[in-house]
Amino acid sequence: MKLRLTNATVRHPAARTSAPAALRGLGLAVAQGEQVAVIGPSGAGKTTLLHLLACAQRPAAGSLQLDDTDPWALPRGALERLRGRLFLAPQVPPLPPRQRVVTAVLAGRLPHESLWASVRSLVLPTDTALAEHALARFDVADKLFDRVDRLSGGERQRVGLARALASQASLLLVDEPLSALDPARAQQALASLTQAARERGATLIATLHQVDMALRHFPRVIGLRGGALAFDLPSAQVTPALLHQLYAQHLEELAPTAPPAPDAPVAAAPVPMQCR
Ligand SMILES: Nc1ncnc2c1ncn2[C@@H]1O[C@H](COP(=O)(O)OP(=O)(O)OP(=O)(O)O)[C@@H](O)[C@H]1O
Ligand SMILES: [Mg+2]
Repeated sequence: MKLRLTNATVRHPAARTSAPAALRGLGLAVAQGEQVAVIGPSGAGKTTLLHLLACAQRPAAGSLQLDDTDPWALPRGALERLRGRLFLAPQVPPLPPRQRVVTAVLAGRLPHESLWASVRSLVLPTDTALAEHALARFDVADKLFDRVDRLSGGERQRVGLARALASQASLLLVDEPLSALDPARAQQALASLTQAARERGATLIATLHQVDMALRHFPRVIGLRGGALAFDLPSAQVTPALLHQLYAQHLEELAPTAPPAPDAPVAAAPVPMQCR
């Protein structure tokens, strides 16, 4: 799925009227199959951006186009079908606690299936192999028949990623997929996620607090700050100076680094991030 944002502004309904908009005048075009990381300090608007792209949040001004269609101009049924083609994976996957992992993973597919197939797969998982394959990509295939509430936080997060893959969506919107993972697992999970998206030509947009991983695994990186675009660049062009500007006043979110040489190539001085 390709997407375009034009001058998009988003206000949270519950926000104080005096609060600045969570996203302000954002312009963005992403081609089908592209892989984009979104970085920026806490409160920058990363999650709000994913919600906007997932049609979970309506722009107060400006427009969103998904595959050249304004989703908010569609009748309700067509909007639901469009939502069925994208998958928003929140930071904490909404997995029902008593459910088996296999059922939770296959539930990610529900919008694509007939009502009968959906109900049947909730009662008796019919496509166990698909779930197992998705789980294996994140090294949790052995948890297939475990209960969700008996998993560790990191295992839950990886099951959530397997669920995103099982969804067969053509737009994957993934919010901080690595927050509960150790560095080795995080590397592996990101490699699996990007590879699986590439194999099926799905568009992938992920928010990340781990800047080094964003630069390593994604060809394009967007920096958000205060609800506005700070930069939108090929990852090789994201310099330490840009990162320090992006995280200015939030430098505690960056691991200690030497002061940046102006416009030094990032490969010479990678900027690792703390896992949160
Ligand atoms: N449900 C909400 N109601 C009101 N304001 C909100 C809501 N969710 C987020 N905001 C505000 O919108 C702004 C952007 O929040 P958002 O969650 O998109 O940031 P973020 O970049 O994802 O931050 P983090 O890295 O901490 O997850 C913040 O100022 C936040 O306080
Ligand atoms: Mg967020």
